[in-house]
Amino acid sequence: MKRRLYVFLLLALFASPILTAFLSNTSTVTYSIIERKVLSNAVSPFPRGPTVNMVTQDSAVIFWRTEDLTNATVRYGLNESVMEIVTNSTLDKDHYVSLNELNMDEKYYYRVISNGTTSPLYHFLTAPADGDEFKMIIIGDNRPSTTDPVQPAEFAQMAQMIVAEQPHIVIMSGDFVLDVSENHADNLLRWEHFTNISDSIGHYAPIYAVLGNHDTGAKTGSLRLEYYFDSFVLYDEPSTYYSFDYAGVHFTMLDSEQLGFEARIIGDQFTWLENDLETTSSEMKFVVIHRPLYPVIHIQDAYNDVPAAEREAVQALYEEHNVSLLITGHDHCFNRLTVNGIVQIISGGGGAPLYNHPTWKGGYYHYVRTNVSASHVNITAIKLDDSVGYNYQLPYTGPIEIEHRIIPSGSTNPVGTLPVILFSEVPAEKYFSWDSDENQTELTGLPNSNGEHTLDVYACNSDSVWSHESFMFIATGGPTTPTTTTTPTTTTPTTTPTGDGAIDPLILFGSLSIAGVVIVVVAVIWFRRKS
Ligand SMILES: [Fe+2]
Repeated sequence: MKRRLYVFLLLALFASPILTAFLSNTSTVTYSIIERKVLSNAVSPFPRGPTVNMVTQDSAVIFWRTEDLTNATVRYGLNESVMEIVTNSTLDKDHYVSLNELNMDEKYYYRVISNGTTSPLYHFLTAPADGDEFKMIIIGDNRPSTTDPVQPAEFAQMAQMIVAEQPHIVIMSGDFVLDVSENHADNLLRWEHFTNISDSIGHYAPIYAVLGNHDTGAKTGSLRLEYYFDSFVLYDEPSTYYSFDYAGVHFTMLDSEQLGFEARIIGDQFTWLENDLETTSSEMKFVVIHRPLYPVIHIQDAYNDVPAAEREAVQALYEEHNVSLLITGHDHCFNRLTVNGIVQIISGGGGAPLYNHPTWKGGYYHYVRTNVSASHVNITAIKLDDSVGYNYQLPYTGPIEIEHRIIPSGSTNPVGTLPVILFSEVPAEKYFSWDSDENQTELTGLPNSNGEHTLDVYACNSDSVWSHESFMFIATGGPTTPTTTTTPTTTTPTTTPTGDGAIDPLILFGSLSIAGVVIVVVAVIWFRRKS
């Protein structure tokens, strides 16, 4: 009997850390494996579309284009054979047919007919009830490279992957083509390459877009937005900023490309943004804009280069109205950064040439699968090989995250005399320490010598949980001007960027279990010898 007891205790001893590790690992895997059904992307006989647009809980707009003036019929229904018919007998080339009185959160099949030519059968999902979960795909920066005018193969591949995801809606964060020139025929060709692929997504899900810097003719001195508007069916056209509600989420779509005011949200658009965020009753608010508020690397024309007061005013507005998610592109990577509670993602890996981000820093082609409901947002970057590049869930409940961002030294608004430290939430208490010297409550001063220096940053959240990050800087500029010209050229966090300062409760449980089992074994042996 005693031998069985020892065997049991020994098994428990070995099993405990394994079980702990298993539980610990599985607790961090927050995405779910989705069974994929690859759909045949049926080719339309029409030069554009059909696409499904501006989908609500009970309506949708079907668009398609014909070569000649034709009538327009849409057959649609909840299965492939029983179909309602809507006909527009007015002859036209661009057809917009509204479907109304649809059921909420249903899959509808449809096909379009013009002068006897019939499209293949497509389908789309209507919006679920406010607060219920829906799937949103984000993809940005699919533009061609400067050496090849056709759309990247990576974008074409991800378009198919996105269709297979069967999303409710798709967000495209800008840079669809490589610039708009003064050559009309060339512009038509570039945008046709794009819409050939974007329509293959639009057959199945509504696309909502924002303007990227490469989608305009800014370099010609004129925006030439007609190609952009022609490629999408958006709310509030011809405004380049607009908003809409979907399943209880408020979407604010901004324009970072206003001629002469690039990357800036000022004037009429800022007033409109204030009013838009003020008047929505939605708790969940997403803002979409091409240029990020906090870029990763040498994007010198992003928000780093606008006057600091403007950037702070926009950040303050997002904080005041509890914006849930800021969706951006422009930097060709995937990145997530939280600043004072405002979660920003950069999704710029849609096919345009990648920059020099290492893979661990989001330097991969991807789209973002986002599952959204009133209670959570699950964000997953999906790579070309269908693997997960990154996963993050809202609400975030861990310790304060601390990050340092380099502002490019070549920027027109270059590095100041101090590094930029960003906290994921406003700390209840914080300290800074240069070279393990005394703690400062405000980050001031710089070490008065060239060479390697460390900056330790400590932050405490409202639950009294402390976080700690250590950053390394190389001070340069010569012994006579050591501090004012110091440029942080290297950032080497010596600890894991997230989770520092907090003990995983599962690991704690496992450790206590091991200790308990050891104590019991020792006690049993001691009692046995004693007896
Ligand atoms: Fe861009």
